[in-house]
Amino acid sequence: MEKPMLDRAYQPLQVGPITLPNRFIKAGANENMSMAGLPTLAMLKHHQELAMGGVGLTTMAYLAVEKVGRTLPDQLWLNDQAVSELRVVTRAVHEAGGKIAAQITHGGSFVTGIFVPRRLQSSVSGFNPAGLLRGNFLRRAMTETDMDRMVDSFVLAAERCVAAGFDAVEIHMGHGYLLNQFLSPMDNQRTDAYGGTAENRARFPARVLAAVKRKVGDRIAVLAKINVSDGRSRGGTVEDAIVTAQVLEAAGADMLVLSGGRNVESGWFMFGSNLNLKAMQRVLGKWSLSGMAIAATAKSAPKIDFRELYFWDYSTQIRERVNIPLAYLGGVKSADNVAQCMEAGFEAVALARALLREPDLPNKWREDATAPSLCDNCNSCIAYIYHPGGTWCIHRPPNELRNNQVLASSEVA
Ligand SMILES: Cc1cc2nc3c(=O)[nH]c(=O)nc-3n(C[C@H](O)[C@H](O)[C@H](O)COP(=O)(O)O)c2cc1C
Repeated sequence: MEKPMLDRAYQPLQVGPITLPNRFIKAGANENMSMAGLPTLAMLKHHQELAMGGVGLTTMAYLAVEKVGRTLPDQLWLNDQAVSELRVVTRAVHEAGGKIAAQITHGGSFVTGIFVPRRLQSSVSGFNPAGLLRGNFLRRAMTETDMDRMVDSFVLAAERCVAAGFDAVEIHMGHGYLLNQFLSPMDNQRTDAYGGTAENRARFPARVLAAVKRKVGDRIAVLAKINVSDGRSRGGTVEDAIVTAQVLEAAGADMLVLSGGRNVESGWFMFGSNLNLKAMQRVLGKWSLSGMAIAATAKSAPKIDFRELYFWDYSTQIRERVNIPLAYLGGVKSADNVAQCMEAGFEAVALARALLREPDLPNKWREDATAPSLCDNCNSCIAYIYHPGGTWCIHRPPNELRNNQVLASSEVA
């Protein structure tokens, strides 16, 4: 691959009102580095390390816009108290020369770790398989009033992200969370203006994005993460994703991060490989309810072999049909992969597992473009979402960062 193409990845990138120092993005990957909704010191060190390693934009995963929008009990959610603690993390990233995005989300009916004593909001009513483990058996279709309130929640959360010093918000519209429950025909069976065609299914997510953009878009970049496909025959297709991308472009998105798959129905598609059941059982315990549920789902998954750039065929089709910046994601493992993405017209590359293995990969490839990624796709890191030490690569020295120490803005200068 020609060197100028790789060099482009190290050039600054304008995204809405901000300029990234380069085109390497750390994809949102649930850090499990929060307690009772507040970030820990481990969270700070994790993102600081990525920024020092040359990542232009690191993404803090999975901040719920409301308390009831959480999926897991310790998950971050955007309240006033969290703002001052989050500011400590964003400042550390800025001092290391990087930018930081907050991935904002609402679980909708995907709530696996908390009991909610009322029906969960979604695009549709009825039985809720994703809530089985915690007794959240039922969900209900959101009304116009619910949708207005939810738009307000996303907007308020985005304003709190500005106050916390984030440079961007990434609105999560993939993987089975609330906004994906509207986009995906696996959930959305509505017969009103929010269901049916791909345009209709994108209407509510686009409304959320447009409102966020209107309120904070002159100060921070507004991104969305979408599925290029759900990877299931009844799910969203690449044709749907092209429409979604076009609708979000019209709604004012500054960049889209392209992903795929759904947590429950097609995890293997999201990771281009199967889950590591042994690691899951090690971390969760063989006989834990969650461990058994994950094992049952994983055993029915098709067996697939990891290949680099596994979303390539889908993502390049989307690249041809929209003009806004796109971040390619899915199996980026080498400097050649990065150069290939630049050559195909993607403005950025987003990586999760390879950066968990080596947070300094962008710096390493700048020195030696032939250096392979040391990530072996063992997928143990996915199990570590449930580990008390936080999400970690098992090939690295053990995580000794304090993951039980909640940041107090006064203590960490
Ligand atoms: C440990 C782990 C946790 C993840 N958590 C999230 C998450 O919270 N939000 C999200 O959008 N994607 C999450 N992902 C998916 C990644 O963002 C990305 O889509 C996926 O890992 C494929 O990219 P990769 O091949 O570079 O790893 C997670 C991935 C990993 C490995």
